[in-house]
Amino acid sequence: MPSSEIIQLQEQILKLKEEKRAIILAHNYQREEVQDIADFVGDSLELSRKAATLDCEMIVFCGVNFMAESASILSPDKTVLLPEKEALCPMADMIHVDSPRPVRKSFPGFENPPAFVFPPEFTLRDIKRQYPGVPVVAYVNTTADVKAESDICCTSANVVKVIESLPGDEVICIPDKNLSMWAARNTKKKVIAWDGYCNVHERVTVQDVAKARAEHPAAVVVAHPECRIEVLEISDHVTSTSGMLRFAASSSEREFIIGTELGLLHRLRKENPEKAFHPLRKDMICPNMKKTTLKSILRAFQENTYLIKVPQHIRVPAKRALDRMLEIS
Ligand code: 13P
Ligand code: SF4
Repeated sequence: MPSSEIIQLQEQILKLKEEKRAIILAHNYQREEVQDIADFVGDSLELSRKAATLDCEMIVFCGVNFMAESASILSPDKTVLLPEKEALCPMADMIHVDSPRPVRKSFPGFENPPAFVFPPEFTLRDIKRQYPGVPVVAYVNTTADVKAESDICCTSANVVKVIESLPGDEVICIPDKNLSMWAARNTKKKVIAWDGYCNVHERVTVQDVAKARAEHPAAVVVAHPECRIEVLEISDHVTSTSGMLRFAASSSEREFIIGTELGLLHRLRKENPEKAFHPLRKDMICPNMKKTTLKSILRAFQENTYLIKVPQHIRVPAKRALDRMLEIS
């Protein structure tokens, strides 16, 4: 898109934002031109915190569905809009409360089986029945009804702290097997993991790390905990998207290999112009995060699309799980 068109769209959006007393929140994986008009860009934890405390009438959430749902759960009196209806997280659809999830015919890149694999007909209620009394930690990358059935939420930034805050020596951790296995390495508790995964991070292999290191021998490897455990084990630093921003800013290193969705490179480069950032793989692109465009944000303001409202009977228990997380981290 020519830069004059981008500037024109951005101006139209900012005008409507003022008129509607709205705030634009954007995840670190959003398109550059979307990040540039947001009031706040952050990781899942930071965005949840913001959504709970904002003083505005409307939140336009540039991210994926579960993030806008969390904003609606935490701020029920505000109008929450998700500019793209189909901006969904496939990982969030890998666990359902009481109906079987769609059967996957293949597990791309699934060479190392997770600690526990549940058959596709398994539901969250089945696993709760199998481990009665064991607390359920739901990654925020879950639908609102799954959060409502869980004891507490977590993000990639606080998973270990959340697990350690719970009574007993066992936890059920859903739905990301990689995040769960990473957490298991960093706690003494037994972690019962689901076998969900993010297909953007799951595709990274140890060979990719070796190749990137050979190409950039002076660089440190920073990986997101949604990557496979064997990738995390050989990385120099493992953290959430905003954790990567903090690490890059405070580190004395000059060169970094970044193992997460490519959208993060925009902020990394903008905030650290004197440092170099290389993607761990050039195809780490989340198609759902990229669905939101300036045009869809403009349409959201003009047509109030798409309204995200979580029904009260789900919102109340889901909020309890999110509030518990926000209290401890
Ligand atoms: P964080 O920004 O919380 O690290 O999450 C990454 C992610 O994949 C969100 O969908
Ligand atoms: Fe979901 Fe992965 Fe996309 Fe994050 S990057 S929204 S976990 S598919």
